[in-house]
Amino acid sequence: MTTHAPRVFSGMQPTGNLTLGNYLGALRNFVALQDDEAFERLYCVVDLHAITVAQDPATLSRTTREVAAAYIASGLDPKRSILFNQSRVTAHAELGWIFTCVARMGWLNRMTQFKEKAGKNRENASVGLFSYPTLMAADILAYRATHVPVGEDQKQHLELTRDIAAKFNNDFQVPDFFPQPEPLIQKETARIMSLRNGANKMSKSDPSDMSRINLTDDADLIAQKIRKAKTDPEPLPSEAEGLEGRPEALNLVGIFAALSGVSVADVLAEHGGQGFGAFKPALADLTVERIAPIGEEMRRLMETPDEIDAILADGAERAGALARPVLREVYETLGLNGGGTA
Ligand code: AMP
Ligand code: TRP
Repeated sequence: MTTHAPRVFSGMQPTGNLTLGNYLGALRNFVALQDDEAFERLYCVVDLHAITVAQDPATLSRTTREVAAAYIASGLDPKRSILFNQSRVTAHAELGWIFTCVARMGWLNRMTQFKEKAGKNRENASVGLFSYPTLMAADILAYRATHVPVGEDQKQHLELTRDIAAKFNNDFQVPDFFPQPEPLIQKETARIMSLRNGANKMSKSDPSDMSRINLTDDADLIAQKIRKAKTDPEPLPSEAEGLEGRPEALNLVGIFAALSGVSVADVLAEHGGQGFGAFKPALADLTVERIAPIGEEMRRLMETPDEIDAILADGAERAGALARPVLREVYETLGLNGGGTA
């Protein structure tokens, strides 16, 4: 039961190039939600999350605009959705601090993304990388967002967000002050895998550029990456059960299905029995048709960075106006007299 108005919030980190995984797992769903007038929508470029690992300042400034350009090029309309970068709205950092005091060490110790990102050298990871999910909870709850479109890997962080909301409401006896936000995960595209290894997620941080399609790759490079994608020697099955134990084949068929807007069963009904020599060119054509225009539009938008900045500044103003009253109540609730600059 929620008494909160339906509101969507999501974000992406401006670390490196966005991939086909980001697009199919998240961005495309951001755009689809625009057609549902019931929701207010905020889409953020989470630059404060990016600095949990070392960033070159000039690069960060450029990639922040680039993710904004990817949002717009994919179909997000700055009039219908609020687009902004996180550091422009101080409420995120302020509520993030408060949530580091609500969340428990034990909760954060269980976060698998921290373990993956920190690797073996945990002693040398930033404190920010450890407390990362508390800032993510602040992103969402500063707007009392009720729905969060993300890929599968963010599910655990959303559960933590719900725990923080519940503990805050309970500790300060403000029932239903924060909502319990729901993840919106598209099952079919929740985890797009690497083109080089069907056991790994497609990721912008993979050392091999051949493992991923970047939204900025041109048509030739996209086709080349699909041609060289790892596969097995068997032809495609005609039913989905036949993809079991064949992670690379499953991934390529899944990408085809997602990009063409049909089910895996439909793809196999048409392409079952084909070898990859025939299927890969069809997939390459489809991927080029859907993804290359986004990269072209991103390049065009990046020629006028001032226009991107103006969109982000306008979005930040609208976002700040929504977050400010929530923050004011939070400070009051905690007895922090006169707190908050937001
Ligand atoms: P990030 O690049 O880590 O900021 O992720 C931005 C969004 O893209 C999140 O919602 C992720 O869950 C989603 N995402 C990233 N990689 C993939 C992938 N390989 N498959 C599906 N979703 C993904
Ligand atoms: N942690 C998310 C990721 O790595 C990015 C993110 C930050 C986010 N804040 C968010 C996603 C709020 C959804 C809602 O992909």
